[in-house]
Amino acid sequence: MPNLDEKYMKMCFELAKRGKNNVTPNPMVGCVVLDKNGKLVSKGYHKKYGKNHAERDALLKLKNNEAEGGTLYVNLEPCSHYGKTPPCVDLVIKHKPKRVVIGMKDVNPKVDGISKLKAAGIQVDFILEKEAEFLNRRFIKNMTMKLPYVVLKTATTMDGKISTQTGSSKWITSEKSRELVYKMRKDFDCILTSSNTVIADNPLMNQTKWICALDKNLRTDKNSRIYSNPNTYVASIQNTPLKDDRLDLKAVLQELFNKGIYSVFVECGGTLAGALLKEGLIDEVYQFIAPKILNDNSGISCFNGDNITEINDAKELNIYEVKYLNPDILIKAKLNSF
Ligand SMILES: NC(=O)c1ccc[n+]([C@@H]2O[C@H](COP(=O)([O-])OP(=O)(O)OC[C@H]3O[C@@H](n4cnc5c(N)ncnc54)[C@H](OP(=O)(O)O)[C@@H]3O)[C@@H](O)[C@H]2O)c1
Repeated sequence: MPNLDEKYMKMCFELAKRGKNNVTPNPMVGCVVLDKNGKLVSKGYHKKYGKNHAERDALLKLKNNEAEGGTLYVNLEPCSHYGKTPPCVDLVIKHKPKRVVIGMKDVNPKVDGISKLKAAGIQVDFILEKEAEFLNRRFIKNMTMKLPYVVLKTATTMDGKISTQTGSSKWITSEKSRELVYKMRKDFDCILTSSNTVIADNPLMNQTKWICALDKNLRTDKNSRIYSNPNTYVASIQNTPLKDDRLDLKAVLQELFNKGIYSVFVECGGTLAGALLKEGLIDEVYQFIAPKILNDNSGISCFNGDNITEINDAKELNIYEVKYLNPDILIKAKLNSF
């Protein structure tokens, strides 16, 4: 017999994902309610920041007291504090379920819904905790580190090169891959790029609300295409502290977070990518790999930030998705950075 708790928690995940990009900086949450006979009687999810949380959305659809003696599934601990909406845990308790099954504890220190549920005599169980945390990894990073979630995109040959020694790089990957990058950008609040990349490629990058260009000495031409976005923020010596004579990358990310930027898509060359990686500021890498080999050590590598002599000192990642895009592949991998 399939594990019913897993089945309904996975349903919560799918419901939660419907709120993607609309609930930030809140987490994505879905909720499923069963009556005392195990019949599914309601579903809900958090649709928009400031609007009803998933539990409220699901419970308010009930006409009678169908949840009494039943089970409520939710992928995040019900909130217990007044925010933009009243505490969900009070409404859950009012509906008297016998059991509440939760995906993960809320990392928001203001939340302690579990104690309240237990104090009301409701059984609390956990299921698929790792999967629940993975779903809301951006929220966890934002809440615990007060930093945006950072994904670095790179497009390389099979030998990890982003250009030849002369800077020739257009194009490594196929049009199909590049179109996918344009779509991916829409999942982020901001694109982070560098002076060198703006000078070399003059990219448009108009799919996100914000663009941040790292340009210590304001070397980029003000007619560059990124400046057509009114929300282009230039981090320079004038507004950013230095670290080892370079812009302090963590300070830049903190500044972006203070501006309400919760996710950042990095598009740059090997120097900045290497520096971000070395400082532990990258959460994920999206690597597009074209079926090409440059076969030249003087070609530019996608990461160039360290001087490593021991292979054991290489950064380790967990690959969670591999997509064949014919002819390229896309690898999505997570660093254990928080
Ligand atoms: N294949 C791909 O996915 C891809 C994507 C984008 C770009 N590219 C290619 O990458 C090439 C540029 O690569 P690149 O290595 O020369 O430059 P980069 O990695 O894009 O940027 C390096 C620059 O970033 C700035 N920066 C600011 N703070 C920094 C810090 N703390 N540490 C390091 N750098 C910092 C510095 O410029 P300032 O001193 O001016 O601040 C530095 O020179 C271009 O040819 C472009 O075509 C490839």
